[in-house]
Amino acid sequence: MTVLADTWCNILNDFPAYAKRGPAPRNLETARGGRNADVRPQMTLELFRQSNQADCAEIPIPDPVLELYSLYRPTPLIRAKAFEEALGTTSRIYVKFEGQNAAGSHKLNSAIAQAYYFKKAGVERITTGTGAGQWGAAISWACSRAGLDVTVFMVGVSYRQKPLRPVMMRVYGAEIHESPSEVTEVGRAARIADPQCLGSLSIANGEAIEIARSIPGARFAVGSGENHVLLHQTVVGQEALLQMKEIGDFPDVVTACVGAGSNFAGISFPFLRRSLRAGKAVRIIAAEPVACAKLTRGIYAYDLSDASSTTPYVRMMTLGRDVVVPGIHAGGLRYHGTSPLLSAMYQDGLFEARAYRQLQVFETAVLFARATGLIVAPESAHALCAAVDAVREAPAPISVLANISGHGLLDLSSYDAYLRGEMDDGLPDETMIARSLSLLRQRNEYAEAI
Ligand SMILES: Cc1ncc(COP(=O)(O)O)c(C=O)c1O
Repeated sequence: MTVLADTWCNILNDFPAYAKRGPAPRNLETARGGRNADVRPQMTLELFRQSNQADCAEIPIPDPVLELYSLYRPTPLIRAKAFEEALGTTSRIYVKFEGQNAAGSHKLNSAIAQAYYFKKAGVERITTGTGAGQWGAAISWACSRAGLDVTVFMVGVSYRQKPLRPVMMRVYGAEIHESPSEVTEVGRAARIADPQCLGSLSIANGEAIEIARSIPGARFAVGSGENHVLLHQTVVGQEALLQMKEIGDFPDVVTACVGAGSNFAGISFPFLRRSLRAGKAVRIIAAEPVACAKLTRGIYAYDLSDASSTTPYVRMMTLGRDVVVPGIHAGGLRYHGTSPLLSAMYQDGLFEARAYRQLQVFETAVLFARATGLIVAPESAHALCAAVDAVREAPAPISVLANISGHGLLDLSSYDAYLRGEMDDGLPDETMIARSLSLLRQRNEYAEAI
């Protein structure tokens, strides 16, 4: 039977308090000259509503979006029996595989929706930042379908590690820049500050925002973090709920990796709702890299989400915007912060988090590939690590669902580096983390003190 979800799960309806996001303390803004005051709103009205409304539990997916979803949805939900055997566990491990679409990852779920809403609002060009390039590829194709131009800034270290992703974006018609670039003030400033700069999502997004503000008819679109992006990704969990029901199982544990949080929210929110409403306990685990452990090592503080210094401060789990994250191959997980909504939920104990070293991530990914044939994105392999931990730590057999957010077929150079023994654990510079957290604390203490 084909299982198609036709609504997004609005978790704000279950937790209306999270919809009321207060402004950052005023003196944080004035300390940087209050520059955010002149930011032209980047979201369309409908996306803004989706980000803030708590009154309806299910949001119908518009027909044109459903039509494009039907090119690749429902995505497979499979039991990874050979992986279970390789691990020697009697627990059941299911994976939801979001890598089976043209663009290669879950990012397409929001890209299609955002391109639809932006086009409907009369926007002509989308600008955006992308880490490993999965979001860039997805939004490039979605914009091409919607008849929108697109400018993508891709984080430099990933641009060099995964040179075929920029090609993919160009094939879809995008204009693409390696970030930091020479075409924006934000990029030039980052290059002057550090000529060897690896790049970061914060800089790439900052560059994209600068361009969006300078071209009439252009808007900045974001691939994660904001509530509307998390909402669009819930199609994954909505579908997985139906598929698990069809199989006759319900997961004890759900795992997913966290960059800013969209695929994690996407798979987990519908299960969290079911658990709350139907009294079925579910443990939700977020998996992050040790290289950028914002949930397990960061603090809950006001911080900037990008390097343009024009967007408002948001309260989130963060390592601080001054952090320099090692150039790990899971480029999509190198973002210093976390979605504000997920950060608040994490503070309230609604889910757990674990951090994994790069070598363990690839060891697990290779084991999984040999068992199932699926070569997963390095980001997604973090979710497998959390699934393995969950079954190993369980006193009795359990059922685990891991979200495989994307395929790793354009990440083969990373697998190659691992197999050749040329990969390290991607450990962060402790002095730099301490410095970034200290700066973050100082800014927040200053804000509270006045
Ligand atoms: C395959 C894949 N998974 C996960 C992520 C992390 O993003 P998010 O936290 O929004 O799911 C990315 C980001 O680029 C990605 O490419």
